[in-house]
Parts: sequence; structure tokens; C-alpha cells
Amino acid sequence: MTAQLPPHSAPDAAFSPTSAEICDFRALDPARDGSYLIIMAIRPIITAPDPLLKQVSAPVKAVTDETRALMDDMLETMYDAPGIGLAAIQVGVPQRILVIDLQQPSNGDGDGDGDGDGDGGIDGINDERDDAEPVRNPQYFINPEIIKSSDDVATYQEGCLSVPEFFEDVDRPATCTVKYLDYDGNEQVQDMDGLMATCIQHEMDHLNGILFVDHLSRLKRNMILKKLKKQKALNAA
Ligand code: NI
Repeated sequence: MTAQLPPHSAPDAAFSPTSAEICDFRALDPARDGSYLIIMAIRPIITAPDPLLKQVSAPVKAVTDETRALMDDMLETMYDAPGIGLAAIQVGVPQRILVIDLQQPSNGDGDGDGDGDGDGGIDGINDERDDAEPVRNPQYFINPEIIKSSDDVATYQEGCLSVPEFFEDVDRPATCTVKYLDYDGNEQVQDMDGLMATCIQHEMDHLNGILFVDHLSRLKRNMILKKLKKQKALNAA
């Protein structure tokens, strides 16, 4: 999911080694004290229309170092884009894994209550937050399941790294409770509201092959997909 973050939130010049460099590092020093060197890589993001994005992702059987390496890459890819949420299928891995970091500012209201103040500027209103530094607070969700959601809905203008440059209002349950495995494979249950609730529902849709444009009218969806297809053809030319 993307939000129109304030300009100063552009990612730092992140260490992004080429795949050749990663191979070198791993060959030189595959393990130190039994722990692998943490080297994150930015992976290409798949954009619509693409059949991969319609695929239903499979549950993760065991949370391993490989799972964590994938999540580290996903986070780096998300920060680089920049976005606030990313599903593994968006980097071509059909596993039920998400990373989210709303990157809310230190002195914004930061409460994610959807009042338009602390919502990451997703609605284009950055008002009092212009001087605020976004704070990184990455969260990892493996095999997430919504175990409860509210009847009342919240509307956010959503964007998606796989549907670049389009933003549309989507209605979703305003609050939800999510059960998942964390970075270490421990089971967690979290109540969510505001932007966080919207973001995790958007990302969980990806695990079932659903994009935010699938929540729009067919007319609007087809218009967006047509433009994306045209853009792809132009880029490939
Ligand atoms: Ni998305």
C-alpha cells in the first residue's frame, strides 16, 4: 500500500548491494557465530496487470532464516518504493507474508484513528505534520488471519505499489483483530484501527489475489488497468 508521504520521508540512501555483491558476501562469510550476515536487497515490484498478482499465496509452514531474509528484503523494497505495506507476492513470492510500517511522524497525532491527521497523508493532507520526522516501526505478519472485524466501515484513499500512481477511495471494516506469526515465528493477536486496519486488510487481500482496484466499479477498474497496460507497453518499447 502506498501513502503520499511528506517529501522529507524519502528513504535514506539505503545500502542496496547488487545480487553479485550479495553472492560474494555470502560466499566469503556465510555464517559467523551461527548467524548470517544481514544484507538486504531491493527486489523488483510486480505491477498490474500480471497473473501473479491474482495468485492465492500459500501458508508458510515454518518461519526460518530464509523467511526472515525475505521479510528483510521486502521491508527494504517497501521503504525504497516508498510504501507503507508490501505482500510477498508483490515481489513474486506466493507465500502468506506481509510487512507494514506506517512510518508515522514523531510529533503527529500518530494514532492512526483515521481523522486525517495522523494517517500518513494518505488523503493528501499533511497539515501539522510537515515538520515531523517519520519514525520507522516495521511489523511483520506471517499467515495473518482476521479473526474479528467491525460492522462500521472506514474509507481511505488507497494506493498500491503494484498499481502505481492511482489512488481511489475504498471502504473496509474500520477495526479488525488479526492473528499472525511474528518475525520470530511466535503467535500474536493484535487489535487494529485507523490506517493500520485499512493497511493490513489491503495487504491481506494481496494474499488472496485481490487488488484494491477489485473493490472499485468495473468501469473504474478497467480504466485503471487499461492505463497500466498501456504504460507497460510504453516502458517495454
Ligand atoms: Ni497493494
